[in-house]
Amino acid sequence: MRVLGVETSCDETSAAVLEGSGDDVRQRSLVILSQDVHRVFGGVVPELASRAHLTAIVPVVARALADAGCTLPEIDAVAVTHAPGLVGALLVGVSYAKALAFARGIPVLGVHHMEGHLFAPSLEHPAALPPFTALLVSGGHTLLVDVPAWGTYELLGATRDDAAGEAFDKVAKLLGLPYPGGRHVERLARDGDPSRFRFTRPMLRRDQRPGDADYLDVSFSGLKTAVLHAVRAAPDLDAERPHLARAFQDALIETLVEKTARAARLRGRRRVVLGGGVACNGALVVAMRERLAADGAEVFAPSPRLATDNAAMIARAGIFRLERGERSAHALAAHAAMPLPGLEASVERRASSVGGTA
Ligand code: KG4
Ligand code: ZN
Repeated sequence: MRVLGVETSCDETSAAVLEGSGDDVRQRSLVILSQDVHRVFGGVVPELASRAHLTAIVPVVARALADAGCTLPEIDAVAVTHAPGLVGALLVGVSYAKALAFARGIPVLGVHHMEGHLFAPSLEHPAALPPFTALLVSGGHTLLVDVPAWGTYELLGATRDDAAGEAFDKVAKLLGLPYPGGRHVERLARDGDPSRFRFTRPMLRRDQRPGDADYLDVSFSGLKTAVLHAVRAAPDLDAERPHLARAFQDALIETLVEKTARAARLRGRRRVVLGGGVACNGALVVAMRERLAADGAEVFAPSPRLATDNAAMIARAGIFRLERGERSAHALAAHAAMPLPGLEASVERRASSVGGTA
């Protein structure tokens, strides 16, 4: 099966061609056009994102087809992100994919963006297959999910407030760094002295037990406030900036690593998959590998191109669902929010009534 993937959920216009079946899928091409315009505003401006997708979508798809060395008649189906994300941005990809599929008489399938992130590492690592525990960390989501099989997802933990990427972006702003700030914080933190500041690890205590409501959840808004206070108290912010970045990143990473290790141990998994833009963070990946190796588990992290938003992961998740016979009607719509299909709250979450939506 040869599938065209389309992704326009936020500020990347992306298209990819993948072919294969089962877990034997090859990426023939991937084009990602990042919208630069939002930098000026320090955040994604939805209206501008939609307009930029509109001008980019046709040439981006044309380039993905050309790079794959194929023409439209050689495409068997179109997979497109239809949720969650900015609704106006999603609509561009969804409308385009539906029109294309209708014109060619081929199936179209709406894919959940976060399911795409789960599939991304499998494009580069043949062993990044279920069963595994996944940590998805992006600008909008922070999820700990157990995956016994593709399509079956158990929600183990989530953020109670800010997503990990959002925390990076907000702290970057406090430190006067450009948007999106994650990679700037990471770069700055390399020159930071880890002992200069220390922030409390959020929701991380030794006395937590698997049945506790906060055993696998995270919370980053308190950490962000702690950075704000430290920034205000700093007599010479320029001198302290790298140390503050380092202390923030260390606290966030230690929390994510420990919660992920707990989750993998709880389900007895030997494989851990990372996804989402924050998985580009080298310090996070190194710390995760070290900690999980102690438990005999292997960590699979996608390369930056596949960790951030891209259409290859959407086509990959699409192939899985298309092969199961799933198709979307031509009434397929875009949704700002939607639970991951096949996601159920873990027994522990249901028992502690933390809730099960993501
Ligand atoms: O998955 P993604 O590309 O888009 C969403 O679906 O949100 O994630 C974007 C997020 C941003 O918050 C960005 O600051 C963060 O990923 N990010 C990083 C790094 N690179 C990107 N965070 C920490 N360290 C990085 N190197
Ligand atoms: Zn994403």
